Amino acid sequence: MKNLVLLGSTGSIGEQTLNVLDKLDDWNLKGISCYKSIDKIKRQAIRYRPDFIAICDETDIKVLKESFPAGYDPEILVGSSGFAELAGLNNVNMVINAIVGAAGLEPSYNAILNGNKLGLANKESLVIGGNLIISLAKEKNVDIIPIDSEHNAIFQLLDGKDRVEVSQLILTASGGPFYGYNAKEIEDVTVEDALNHPNWNMGSKISIDSATLMNKGLEVIEAHWLFDYSYDKIDVIIHPQSIIHSMVELIDGSILAELGSADMRTPIQYALKYPDRGISVASKLNLKEVGKLEFDSPDLETFPALELAYESGKKGRGYPIVLNAANEIAVKAFLNKRIKFTDIPKVISEMLDNHDSGEFNTLDKILDLNRTVRNMTEEVILTW
Ligand SMILES: NC(=O)c1ccc[n+]([C@@H]2O[C@H](COP(=O)([O-])OP(=O)(O)OC[C@H]3O[C@@H](n4cnc5c(N)ncnc54)[C@H](OP(=O)(O)O)[C@@H]3O)[C@@H](O)[C@H]2O)c1
Repeated sequence: MKNLVLLGSTGSIGEQTLNVLDKLDDWNLKGISCYKSIDKIKRQAIRYRPDFIAICDETDIKVLKESFPAGYDPEILVGSSGFAELAGLNNVNMVINAIVGAAGLEPSYNAILNGNKLGLANKESLVIGGNLIISLAKEKNVDIIPIDSEHNAIFQLLDGKDRVEVSQLILTASGGPFYGYNAKEIEDVTVEDALNHPNWNMGSKISIDSATLMNKGLEVIEAHWLFDYSYDKIDVIIHPQSIIHSMVELIDGSILAELGSADMRTPIQYALKYPDRGISVASKLNLKEVGKLEFDSPDLETFPALELAYESGKKGRGYPIVLNAANEIAVKAFLNKRIKFTDIPKVISEMLDNHDSGEFNTLDKILDLNRTVRNMTEEVILTW
């Protein structure tokens, strides 16, 4: 049996990973984690009996342990150091990082530092710590298998290709629930509208990011670090059906595409099976039922977040950290109905304008800037 650590097991990717594991017989779940969903992790622990569980608050340990049957006594790790410790455990064949947000960086770092192969759903790890994570992975000779469907597609498409033959990476974007809206129509959309993604059922933060197109912006930065292509070689195309998960254009004009159902269990299974393939645990795609595939350009005026991400990625240094931290706080404020949907890119823009960037190349410096910008963004939103 191979040992898996699943960070963020109570989230959308976490639960879908458990669904995949139920259908595979060669994995043992060694560790799981949640932030505050204690009831859910309790149920997961009783079912899968992992040796390690990481949670946010020490005060929840008692209630968690009380619910366990006699003879089951897992080690409980706590707080950000607990999540990192879980990721760095020995005798682990893969760590899947399905934590949402910048909180995923330290676990990604620790997994690689300790030589653990990383299945990466947490795109924010690479957005804010791309240089750090990729250089460490090279130094430690650790594989990072992307679980984000676009990057998983490109990872597959680039396999066996000579770099000099690749002219462009093309990330597809569904366009989100507001695809086709103009600047006026988007002014008064609600939280409920924004959470209602047409193709994917995801956690709330990534659903809002998909609606603003910031998700695609974060993915552009993620692709830059994962595949080492400059930003002018990474394009975004709207493809409302989400059937093509991404494409690679070659210098002779051929465009290669990876197609499949809009089901995250496929890239999750790919990561768990890599470098082999397994019979699909997800529903297969029937192209005759799909009928047609459409493409369009992103509307950068109505959805300025994508351009903000490109600019931040190109500037590098602290800018992607500021972009990500301001976005996380602005999205939270929108979800709590404190700001409007259209305020999200405005808040981020203001934080980027106020940033005077230096080099942020160590874990501590990145986490420091992340904390500072989050606090500053909270203050800015109070005056909004
Ligand atoms: N969902 C998708 O289809 C999808 C697709 C591609 C990529 N991704 C990426 O995968 C990651 C997870 O997305 P998701 O949609 O699964 O998110 P989600 O449903 O919100 O789940 C997030 C998980 O992280 C935990 N968590 C939240 N805040 C944390 C913190 N500060 N420290 C430690 N753990 C924390 C949550 O615990 P609690 O349950 O206790 O809050 C939960 O287990 C994101 O980076 C996202 O961009 C997701």
